[in-house]
Amino acid sequence: MFFSGIEQAPADPILGLTEAFRKDPRPDKVNLGVGVFMDEKGTTPVLECVKRAERLLWETEKTKGYTPISGPAEYGDVVARLVFGPDFHGLAMNSVAAAQSPGGTGALRIGAEFLKAFRQGGTVWMPDPTWDNHKNVFGAAGCPVRTYSYYNPSTRGVDVEAMCAALEKIPAGDVVLLHVCCHNPTGADIDAAGWARVAEIAARAGWLPFFDFAYQGFGDGLEEDRAGLLAVLQKVPEALVASSFSKNMGLYGERVGALMVVAESAKAANAALSQIKRIIRVIYSNPPKHGAALARMVLEDADLRALWLQELESMRQRIAGNRQLLVHGLARRSSEMDFSFIVRQKGMFSFSGLSDAQVDFLREQKAIYMVKGGRINVAGLLPESLGYVCDSIAESLKI
Ligand code: LMR
Repeated sequence: MFFSGIEQAPADPILGLTEAFRKDPRPDKVNLGVGVFMDEKGTTPVLECVKRAERLLWETEKTKGYTPISGPAEYGDVVARLVFGPDFHGLAMNSVAAAQSPGGTGALRIGAEFLKAFRQGGTVWMPDPTWDNHKNVFGAAGCPVRTYSYYNPSTRGVDVEAMCAALEKIPAGDVVLLHVCCHNPTGADIDAAGWARVAEIAARAGWLPFFDFAYQGFGDGLEEDRAGLLAVLQKVPEALVASSFSKNMGLYGERVGALMVVAESAKAANAALSQIKRIIRVIYSNPPKHGAALARMVLEDADLRALWLQELESMRQRIAGNRQLLVHGLARRSSEMDFSFIVRQKGMFSFSGLSDAQVDFLREQKAIYMVKGGRINVAGLLPESLGYVCDSIAESLKI
């Protein structure tokens, strides 16, 4: 039989953990795996600005007819303004083309297909480590994938020297994937001086930057978080950018994102978009409209936007607060390891430094789920579980 000959695939290292977590009957289980924001009650809330937009949409939407292949032009415009900011808009926005995508992952995959077709044989370089799915997404599209040095476990930060040395050697025909902020999985970001060096190398070496911008607003703020992107775009005329509203607008399951092409002219941007539309058409024809309509409403309506900024700020503050609580909680329980680096990291994730054996121990013995490699979703810590998590991590340090 055809199907009976097919072997079971391994569970996804991140989303598979959520499935295992859901099935776990232990009452004190804690999910620090998948990167979703949780409030103090452990729910991933629908933002109030989104709820209000949904009400408005319910009252005003006139059709469920198809959207254009690359989404409404207005959506592309409003997303590009958010991603690049008002200054960039004045300078170069006419050479930016944007296509709506099913989440950030969808944007990456469309981008990968585009590279496969038009940058044939070009290797896609990604930081070591990177989000687990990056390699799979680009690999599945048929792009050769390699890594460049990024994280230094002994300093718990970015090894800028090693990274720059690696970036210098990447050939002009290749592509370099850069996390704009809130690096996944380490939480260690490139600082301003590092970005200036990356920008110079990109301009000199001639490789194409592909920015993954999935966490805008989860680091220091919408504007601050785009600084690295703009630093590179000051020196380099062409880039791809994948953005997402999963995290910053909490639209995870609505799958709302965008792939943007920064070209040297409006003509080149339009030609690239026309090819991207062909790619989209043969994969899913055109994008789902609901989530993108909500994101657009929130961004276009002054009141909803102001409310969103407040809600985003409070998500950011909860994550920063959790980082402090975790560091203090661990310091009180164990002197075996210094966890103070956790407060310097940005975004939802912390590369805790825990070994895979410790991660396994925490899941098997304590029902605390985190991603292999020791990535913790700091936003998953709750007041009720913090003490238990700190006790358990302290215990795991002894194994
Ligand atoms: C994560 O890294 O946990 C998130 O980006 C969710 C995902 O799709 O893996």
